[in-house]
Amino acid sequence: MKKEESKPKQYKKTRQKRFNDFLVTNRYTRKLLKIRYHSPNILKPSVSLGNESRALLEEFKENGIIKFPSLYIKECDFILNEYLEPALRDDFSRKPFMVSTLNQRGLDMGKEVSVKLSMDIPELKRLFFDENICGILYNFFQRQPYYRNQPVLVQHTYRETSKKDIQGKYHLDNGLDQVNFMLLLNDIDENDTHMEYALKSVQEPVTIRDLNRFSFEDEDIAEKYQILPLIGKKGTLYMFNAGNGYHRALYKLNTTRKILHWIVTPGHTLDGDQFERKEGWSHIKEKPAFVKSMIKKLL
Ligand SMILES: [Fe+2]
Repeated sequence: MKKEESKPKQYKKTRQKRFNDFLVTNRYTRKLLKIRYHSPNILKPSVSLGNESRALLEEFKENGIIKFPSLYIKECDFILNEYLEPALRDDFSRKPFMVSTLNQRGLDMGKEVSVKLSMDIPELKRLFFDENICGILYNFFQRQPYYRNQPVLVQHTYRETSKKDIQGKYHLDNGLDQVNFMLLLNDIDENDTHMEYALKSVQEPVTIRDLNRFSFEDEDIAEKYQILPLIGKKGTLYMFNAGNGYHRALYKLNTTRKILHWIVTPGHTLDGDQFERKEGWSHIKEKPAFVKSMIKKLL
């Protein structure tokens, strides 16, 4: 295949995304979003969960974050070989769905790859369609959770010439419950670029002012909360409330981080992503309805 044919279409910030940015930063529309998406489903506020998942849910509510250590090595190897390696060669012919989101801001930061993958990949079903994880999400929101966007595969190397992005300042994503997932595709320790999360910061109520990351100092966050570094062996998965918990990126010179990340919300601030194929996802056919419904807002 010729290079031009395999080039992905460039991802653009959708009108829906710009509208979402307005909704979460306006005092009145924020209230409406909370009423619409933060109230429990009266008919079905929960799904059944095993003891282990119930304990994880409690930990998630308290700390705002949970860690699944080194569970997904097989999935990591698949992503590295089938998607990251071709993307580094500018080969986007591997299907399903692979669209580059690399823009000037990303390039300035030192991103080498930023591509959206599909969830229509049977080899990755343990990541996106695990009944326990989806059940924890359902019971956390007390209503159906939805994928906000397709997973994004990122390789980033921070160099002397790279710009520090505003993600390096502690911030909340939108002050609404929003659960982010980050899968480490390579071993990351404290000397590598990594994320930091302020434990238990989810328990503080959020004001409009808190949404402005320049209205407080990073030192104050580090003093007030215990900070957890999101480090670990390849295959480690983190699940954290980025909407209501303070987090930032910590850049370390000449280190490379490879991650896959994706976001779940109770239906607010959707990115408007679409899948290539809307039917025939045999790998989720046998899953319970609340698991299958996770992708509904993307289809
Ligand atoms: Fe963030």
